[in-house]
Amino acid sequence: MPDTIAVLPGDGIGAEVTAAALRVLQTVRPDCEFVHGDVGAVALEREGTAYPALTQALCERSSAILFGAVGHPKYDAAPAGKRPEFAILALRKQFDLFANLRFVRMFAGLEDASSLKPDYVRGLDLVVVRETTSGLYFGQPKHTTVENGVEVAVDTLVYRTPEIERIARVAFELARARRNHVTSIDKQNVLETGRLWRRTVSAMHAADYPDVELDHLLVDNAAMQLVREPKRFDVMLTENTFGDILSDQAGMLTGSIGNLPSATLGTREHGARRFGLYEPISGSAPDIAGRGIANPVAAMLSAALLCRYSLADDASAARIEGAVAHAFASGARTRDLASAGAPLSTDAFAERVLAAL
Ligand code: IPM
Ligand code: MG
Repeated sequence: MPDTIAVLPGDGIGAEVTAAALRVLQTVRPDCEFVHGDVGAVALEREGTAYPALTQALCERSSAILFGAVGHPKYDAAPAGKRPEFAILALRKQFDLFANLRFVRMFAGLEDASSLKPDYVRGLDLVVVRETTSGLYFGQPKHTTVENGVEVAVDTLVYRTPEIERIARVAFELARARRNHVTSIDKQNVLETGRLWRRTVSAMHAADYPDVELDHLLVDNAAMQLVREPKRFDVMLTENTFGDILSDQAGMLTGSIGNLPSATLGTREHGARRFGLYEPISGSAPDIAGRGIANPVAAMLSAALLCRYSLADDASAARIEGAVAHAFASGARTRDLASAGAPLSTDAFAERVLAAL
């Protein structure tokens, strides 16, 4: 039985970058079956829901999900369940996709595109391990009401020990395969959840991972250190909302958030193969959508992560990563990264990567 890969391009530049990533993925894994599904604003338009039943069923029978982006300005004022973003939140919940890994790597030759001075980012290689099924995003109660004539909005920040333990375990295991250093990020000086977070991570460290170097930072300090001395980080472990913010910030250090892939892994696994969702973290970028100029690198590198984690195929992952590095080394740049010379279109960049493959 060939592996089925659910392809959900979604909104904005999601369609363009996913198409480019799919060409790359099909080249290295022609044996897989790729099936498209609607998601996000596109699905809201066609089916009245951001995450239609047909797409749910497709994901259910797939080995992995190649995801583009969801979000459209038209829905800025819509309630939670009628927004494009509902789809990604529902997917995380449905498949218990709690471990969001965001790899922040500086490609040689792109240092000048970073907003930091080249010396600060040369060789940068860190990963944000973000929890994605709990915290402010999902805590109950969550609503907007009117009390005594004023509108009151409530979100609940909640974490349970097992939720912290399972994401911390992912971070420690990942660190052992890297530079063996975890920085856990919280707000323990103010938040109850922050104190539980720090205690739980420390206890797990002492019990199971004493060989891994662990330090703790308050989130405000972490944000500062990320632009002050980013190379001090190896694995950054953090909760849902902090991880959302810090990963965009970290992404920009590489010159463009269009370079940043992610894997979101859950609890489903068959041996070394884990079900997961793979997406660029840049979002739908409505300002440049439909013009064929978006950077497809994050989507391509996400496809590489799909090979690595869901197909247990490191060789194909390395082939894609190598081809992207080769395209960059040969001077290929999309508009977000180009400083001199004519930038390449999404498709022209993809041709360079395909040629390198
Ligand atoms: C991300 C995105 C999502 C999030 C949105 C689209 C709901 O910003 O994956 O970082 O906030 O988690
Ligand atoms: Mg985000």
